[in-house]
Amino acid sequence: MTDKRPIGVFDSGIGGLTVLREIWEAVPQEGTVYFGDNSRTPYGTKSRSTVIKYSLQNMKFLESKDVKMIVVACNTASAYAYEELKKRAKVPVVEVVTPGADVACRATKNGKIGIIATKATVSTGVYKAAVEKRAAELGLENIEIFQQACPLFVSLAEEGWWNTEVARLTAEEYLKPLKEAHVDTLVMACTHYPLLSKVIQEVMGEDVVLINTGEATAKVVKELLAKEGTASESLESPVREFYTSDEPALFEQVATPFLGAGLPSGTKHFTTDRYEVTV
Ligand code: DGL
Repeated sequence: MTDKRPIGVFDSGIGGLTVLREIWEAVPQEGTVYFGDNSRTPYGTKSRSTVIKYSLQNMKFLESKDVKMIVVACNTASAYAYEELKKRAKVPVVEVVTPGADVACRATKNGKIGIIATKATVSTGVYKAAVEKRAAELGLENIEIFQQACPLFVSLAEEGWWNTEVARLTAEEYLKPLKEAHVDTLVMACTHYPLLSKVIQEVMGEDVVLINTGEATAKVVKELLAKEGTASESLESPVREFYTSDEPALFEQVATPFLGAGLPSGTKHFTTDRYEVTV
């Protein structure tokens, strides 16, 4: 049995491409449809109800593409909207918070876990709660969680200023409290942050384990496809479609370094604000 329907992936813009590339790596035979809501980005500074509304609209669009699974490749949307998406979805929904929390709990040795994210993700406390829940399930005691919002990282990532002095200075400022707290594990709980991982690692020190939530999420996608019996066994090249709510040319230009190999081409324009949803 092979299910050739694609996996739908959405993000507020281009950050989710760091999750997409991990999905391609984990399940290369699967088709994907990616929607980047670039015209309404960032989500990280918006209210809960707005992020829920946008996420439901994005889900409707992906469902119209006959996807077999939806990956919320945005920590802010996962933190605010996952419960609502799951309630209304026609297919399984995977978010990026729980997988990251699981890997962090397994990685820590001294029990001190740092979480860096957008202001919205930090303010929901969803990550902290997910780490605490997972730690309890694993029987870990004395877990301490330190959160830090790093809003400027998003702009630095989009600007391509990954390994620059300005990125280093910004990282030093943001990460100071986490260094002082001696965290030994740091979750990059925003899809943009893996692009700055070199600088983040250097500032934190090489003994600190950096968690890329995209990698952890891709593993969950693979396991869920197997569990649901919806994996594709097709040997044909998988479909890889891209949609953006802003200019396709601009999307492709900014997206290229995020994706590395497999550059997006033929990106189409689509806005999801045409979908009526009640929040
Ligand atoms: N992709 C978002 C996240 O992972 C960050 C960018 C935004 O604020 O929209 O939280």
